[in-house]
Amino acid sequence: MAAAESLAAIVDRALADIGSSADLAVLDEHRVRLLGKKGLLTDQLKTLGALPASERPAAGQRINEAKESIQRALDARRGVLEADKLDRELSAGAIDVSLPGRGEETGSVHPVTKARLRIEAIFKQAGFQVVTGPEIEDDFHNFEALNIPADHPARAMHDTFYFPDGRLLRTHTSPVQIRAMRVLRPPFAVIAPGRVYRLDSDMTHTPMFHQVEGIVVGENVSLANLKAMLTSFVEQYFERPLGIRLRPSYFPFTEPSAEVDIECVFCSGKGCRVCKQTGWLEILGSGMIHPNVLKAVGIDPERWQGYAFGMGIDRVAMLRYDVNDLRLFFENDVRFLKQFP
Ligand code: DAH
Repeated sequence: MAAAESLAAIVDRALADIGSSADLAVLDEHRVRLLGKKGLLTDQLKTLGALPASERPAAGQRINEAKESIQRALDARRGVLEADKLDRELSAGAIDVSLPGRGEETGSVHPVTKARLRIEAIFKQAGFQVVTGPEIEDDFHNFEALNIPADHPARAMHDTFYFPDGRLLRTHTSPVQIRAMRVLRPPFAVIAPGRVYRLDSDMTHTPMFHQVEGIVVGENVSLANLKAMLTSFVEQYFERPLGIRLRPSYFPFTEPSAEVDIECVFCSGKGCRVCKQTGWLEILGSGMIHPNVLKAVGIDPERWQGYAFGMGIDRVAMLRYDVNDLRLFFENDVRFLKQFP
């Protein structure tokens, strides 16, 4: 009878201890103390041997029932503590969806890209197709086929970046003329915008800059067509009519050649600091495609003629967006870029 009473007392205390366990570690200590190999209930089983044989089955059953009720209490408490723990972990890592956002800012198109897209749109509308060529070029496309042989003095004007194998970073978009004319058959009208590279750096020169090349090849194409096309382009690009003039010049791949000036967009031709008091701003080089260039791409110069031009995209972006230092375009300073929403 004494053993039975102390068993009931053990169970009562065990259930109270289990119920008040504050965390899983404490609960586990109770489990070991109660049900472990050297635990209290195991000790109880060892007392069975001292009982008369007739009492042993009933006593054994009571001890087993006690063990089971303790095990049930342990399981129940563990369930509660584990759920609490999960709740705590979830709420510690929880996202408060009612908080205001972190403040996203809308980006904007880079002014040079903006200028390029405007240029493309204007020429596309006039029936030109847009093509591109590789930035890593070979001597043939960048120079040779453009009527600039190895010893030609014009090469000195192109401060070229060379690769050890003789290839180079294109110094202008003119090699795309060659690539386009080798696949297209006249009549056609093409522009080729893209990056070009020259070993040069100051307020108006960066080692990488952008050009757009244009060519029109057909029957009876003339400089008058070029002037008309450019006059219309300038009016659309600057959104107002501007005077335009062709100045005789020299390029190996055109004959005759001309540099094209527009009326100064800042002083409307009166003369200012930007146009160096001349009233004019140079925006491109142009001319009639040299017969040697047409021959190099297998087009008969007796039958077909073409005009060509090469314009600085950054240059006209500077004029349109009133930027006085070319380098600003390529420093990616957000304070600068934000001014072109
Ligand atoms: N490729 C010349 C340069 O980068 C620009 C140019 C001049 C292109 C006359 C042309 C052209 O197509 O006809 O300086």
